[in-house]
Amino acid sequence: MCGIVGYVGTQPALDVVLAGLRRLEYRGYDSAGVAVLADGGLAAAKKAGKLGSLEKELATNPLPVGATGIGHTRWATHGAPTDTNAHPHLDNAGRVAVVHNGIIENFACLRAELTGRGHDLTSETDTEVVAHLLAEEFSSCADLGEAMRLVCRRLEGAFTLVAMHADEPDVVVGARRNSPLVVGVGQGEAFLASDVAAFIAHTRSAIELGQDQVVELRRDGVTVTGFDGRPADVRSYHVDWDVSAAEKGGYDYFMLKEIAEQPKAVADTLLGRVDASGSLTLDEVRIGAQELRETDKVVVVACGTAFHAGLIAKYAIEHWTRLPCEVELASEFRYRDPILDPRTLVIAISQSGETMDTLMALRHAREQGSKVLAICNTNGSTIPREADAVLYTHAGPEVAVASTKAFLTQLVACYLVALYLGQVRGTKWGDEIRAVVRELSRISREVERVLATMEPVRELARSLAEKDTVLFLGRHVGHPVALEGALKLKELAYMHAEGFAAGELKHGPIALIEEDLPVVVVVPSPAGRSVLHDKIVSNIQEIRARGARTIVVAEEGDEAVVPYADHLIRIPATPTLLQPLVATVPLQVFACELATARGNDVDQPRNLAKSVTVE
Ligand code: F6R
Repeated sequence: MCGIVGYVGTQPALDVVLAGLRRLEYRGYDSAGVAVLADGGLAAAKKAGKLGSLEKELATNPLPVGATGIGHTRWATHGAPTDTNAHPHLDNAGRVAVVHNGIIENFACLRAELTGRGHDLTSETDTEVVAHLLAEEFSSCADLGEAMRLVCRRLEGAFTLVAMHADEPDVVVGARRNSPLVVGVGQGEAFLASDVAAFIAHTRSAIELGQDQVVELRRDGVTVTGFDGRPADVRSYHVDWDVSAAEKGGYDYFMLKEIAEQPKAVADTLLGRVDASGSLTLDEVRIGAQELRETDKVVVVACGTAFHAGLIAKYAIEHWTRLPCEVELASEFRYRDPILDPRTLVIAISQSGETMDTLMALRHAREQGSKVLAICNTNGSTIPREADAVLYTHAGPEVAVASTKAFLTQLVACYLVALYLGQVRGTKWGDEIRAVVRELSRISREVERVLATMEPVRELARSLAEKDTVLFLGRHVGHPVALEGALKLKELAYMHAEGFAAGELKHGPIALIEEDLPVVVVVPSPAGRSVLHDKIVSNIQEIRARGARTIVVAEEGDEAVVPYADHLIRIPATPTLLQPLVATVPLQVFACELATARGNDVDQPRNLAKSVTVE
């Protein structure tokens, strides 16, 4: 939520900052702003709307050229998305500029204090107080790094701050608490950003910042201290993907590119996880085998799409390990006083590794003595840093706000964890594990096959663009797939869409069925439990009898559904538990196409932002 960029170097800062913001726009896009230091002063521009509006404004009213700058793309929390509330925020003298991601919880009393001392605050934001506080502290210490440390000690809440001062023209200062910020180190230049994508075109050399740290960027280097001023240990790393991964590569939308990348993402996530003897070797899982053997319960915490991956993981974990598994929305978890102890293994799933709800659930679990294993796609992000162990998915950067390839790789990672638990605990034989791993290795090609047959799905989606509602039904692992299909449609097409367990329909939701209502039904493999398959065939008949237009997602060779399918979407046959890896893909394509047909921007749906760093 909110994208932040800072730059000090030799290039025109505005160009670097705007290019960085373009790559971070997925984090928020309701207003944008920039500031540069030039000719002994500070110049800023900001505009409501997407980055394009700001660029237009800069074309008409250009800023002076300078080599130090900051920028921001906003997802509003405090105050409407207006020009005034857009960042950067300045002090009254116009010498300090600050951009912010997060929420400063005690801003109201700080604001009252500042107003009492004669400051004139003009926006509705929580951020503006920081510009004024920095100006006050700087006036006594003449050191922006020190001013930032002093101010941060007074702030409550979660924040990333990046600031500069006209009296220190070659310095950019950043600070972080519970909100992401990474440093990029180049030759004679340095960068700050919410995500490495903002500077990957300039350098792949990055530094992770820890909690409660302040970083000072100068052309010749970077210094990191705690809020208390003590030098901090930092971890440098090399970003293992390049700029092409963060570009559209000829696709109209990132989402289309990311859907197409799924076969590779799935294959990459499996790479290196099995040794020569066929045993799973999850090197990053630093929780000892003995502790995993003593585990008596698994709890998965996650949000949104990652939560749906968790729901599917439950089936695999319980079936393969015989351990009870609960799946909980991370945003609800700590508020219901969950029963956790050192024998509980908590799995936190997050693409971004920065989702505040999931982070708070993780912290709560660790406070209760439970071990936390993160499944994450973002190297160096907060959730894997704070977890006891991590299994990285290798989806590459996911830019479109709606999660697609990350979801499939989260599923792969969940299956690997479930099998690994089975291996360590002896509930699965080696040959059984090898058989599932062989099936998993095959899936990447099957996803490719599904993608090659999507034209009829796109055509169907376009034909439904004027509908108001689409329902999704599934049983067993098909139920979370139905939930995911509905979520994709809601967030992209802004339509009423709901996912139900097919068996639950007759307990109420069947009243929603009316003439020509599109209902997508995810049919389990007939080769699995035939009773499950038979039941859903009956459910399809029940809704069809009431006028629904049935869109049936069923395995190749499943003939039993043919008489009841108004539209049939074929997917390859897979083992029952693995079916979500292929069944989800047509639903992603369906939502993407339907939303596009309705004229929506699928990469940046309204009101949303990727990486939700507020609770
Ligand atoms: C939906 C979507 C969101 C995220 C959720 C969790 O398409 O992308 O529901 O899945 O916000 O995000 P992460 O996985 O980054 O924790």
